Amino acid sequence: MADSTDIFERLKQDHDDHRALLDKLAETHGESEERKDLLEQFTREVKSHAAAEEQALYSTMLRKPPTTDETRHSVAEHHELNEALNDLAATDMSSSAWMQKFKQLDHDYRHHINEEEEDHFPDFAEHLNKDDVEHMREVFDRRKKEEKADAEVTPKKKSEAKE
Ligand SMILES: [Fe+2]
Ligand SMILES: [Fe+2]
Repeated sequence: MADSTDIFERLKQDHDDHRALLDKLAETHGESEERKDLLEQFTREVKSHAAAEEQALYSTMLRKPPTTDETRHSVAEHHELNEALNDLAATDMSSSAWMQKFKQLDHDYRHHINEEEEDHFPDFAEHLNKDDVEHMREVFDRRKKEEKADAEVTPKKKSEAKE
């Protein structure tokens, strides 16, 4: 077991930024510039975080049989999260449906990051060696930057997403 404090603290830092953006979004109203800007910021930030987290952390954890179930669970949630973000972007911002969908996403995403922080990260830490930790720390920052440059808001209704 290597000291993985650094990589997990880095991921938690992002999660705290995401919580702050969710708090701000909850205060927005109708089809405002503020809501548009914050949603774009949140979407790009969360999509790139989740992708880099998969490439740095979850790809490593998939190679550790004791944590495979937790890893699969989280990656499946990332997929659902992407669909929910796309669905929200395809929903009329001035409708009450938008706020309803936002509240569901807010609830589900907070659940996801709380579960990572409280359950998964401490379990993962027990299976990491020094090389894993160094690899993850290097890969996460590099990939997040690259993913963020590519991340986009892609409006797509959930029903279409399932076809
Ligand atoms: Fe995640
Ligand atoms: Fe995360």
